[in-house]
Formats: sequence, C-alpha cells, structure tokens
Amino acid sequence: MTVPAAKAPTFEREQPLDGPAVEALLDHAFGPGRFTKVSERVREVAEFRPDLSFCAWDGQRLVGSVRMTRIRIGTDAAIFLGPLAVEADVRKFGTGGALVLAACDAAQEAGFASVLLVGDEPYFGRFGFSAALAKRVRLPGPVDQRRVLVRGLREGGADDLSGLVVAP
Ligand SMILES: CC(C)(COP(=O)(O)OP(=O)(O)OC[C@H]1O[C@@H](n2cnc3c(N)ncnc32)[C@H](O)[C@@H]1OP(=O)(O)O)[C@@H](O)C(=O)NCCC(=O)NCCS
Repeated sequence: MTVPAAKAPTFEREQPLDGPAVEALLDHAFGPGRFTKVSERVREVAEFRPDLSFCAWDGQRLVGSVRMTRIRIGTDAAIFLGPLAVEADVRKFGTGGALVLAACDAAQEAGFASVLLVGDEPYFGRFGFSAALAKRVRLPGPVDQRRVLVRGLREGGADDLSGLVVAP
C-alpha cells in the first residue's frame, strides 16, 4: 500500500535532538519489555550509527524510526537493523517499509555487505531478509533462530556468514 499524499511522512537521518522522541515512540510500540529482548544485548555492544538511522516525520510529529548499529558477525563487519517502529495510527501505509529500505540503502552506500535483524520473516522477507542465510549466525542470548534474518547488500554479501554477534 502506498502512503496517501496528505499522510506521506518525510524521512530524515536521526539527529541527536531526536533521541527523546525516538525513545517515546519505541516505548509505545514495544512497551516496557523492550529492554529484555536479545536485540538489546546486541545493541549494548554495538556502535550506534545515526548516519544510517532514519526518522519519519508527519510535520513536527515523529511517526516512525529505524536505528542501525555496527556489529561483527564472527570476523565479518555487518550492520544490525532495529528497533523499527511506526506509530499505530499510521501503520500499513508503507512507512515501515520505506524506513527499512532507506536504512539498507544507506548501509550499502557506506560499504557494508550485510544487514542482520531479529524479526518476522513474513514481514521482512519482502525486503530480501532471510532466515536461511542466517542459520549459522549466533546471537548473545536466547532467540528463536527463525527470527534471525539477514540480507546481503551486494552479490554474495550474506553468503557464508557464521559465528557470534559481537562488538565491532
Ligand atoms: C512492523 C511495523 C514497523 C510495520 O510498519 P508499517 O508502517 O505498518 O509497515 P508497512 O506499511 O511497510 O507494511 C505493512 C504490512 O506489513 C504487515 N505486517 C506488519 N507486521 C507484520 C509482521 N510481524 N508479520 C507479517 N506481516 C506484518 C501488515 O499487516 C501490512 O500488510 P498489508 O500491506 O498486506 O496491509 C509496525 O507494525 C510496528 O511498529 N510494529 C510494532 C513494532 C515491531 O513489531 N517492529 C518490528 C520488529 S523490530
């Protein structure tokens, strides 16, 4: 579904002053349990890359966010995507997908070969993410391996990924 013109957000790289609004949006989307997820264990060791992270704005209102952090998978440099969230009243208009694609394009331009995330393959599969490519990737905590997804950003970029996700 495409975003009706009146509802179409604008997409900007995350700025330092956006932090509190992003945190509030993530609280709405994930609730207080969000810090217990294995993704948070990854982000604790990862390096935040605001230059690859995007905000979706409806005027002054933040309606969506995707954050990207730098990691290593075994010996390979990679990017970790997430959290991704869109405010409930503006979902299903393509904003989440636009954020995923903007972040992946930025990571590709920055020279990264692959993007990792923890999420639902029925959603992220449409953007090229696959659990099969990530079956030998290990996260630093318990996770349903079917939710560990990888996308290559260049030919063969996600082939042969294996090992533990660690600090960059
Ligand atoms: C997931 C999320 C970011 C999608 O945002 P969005 O702006 O609605 O995304 P899009 O408009 O690009 O895509 C919407 C489509 O994806 C589908 N979809 C959303 N979440 C899905 C999931 N977990 N599994 C399968 N499909 C899903 C919607 O049903 C919709 O389908 P349709 O196009 O057939 O109507 C939003 O639902 C959200 O913030 N959810 C809570 C936080 C979350 O789960 N984040 C992802 C994990 S990191």
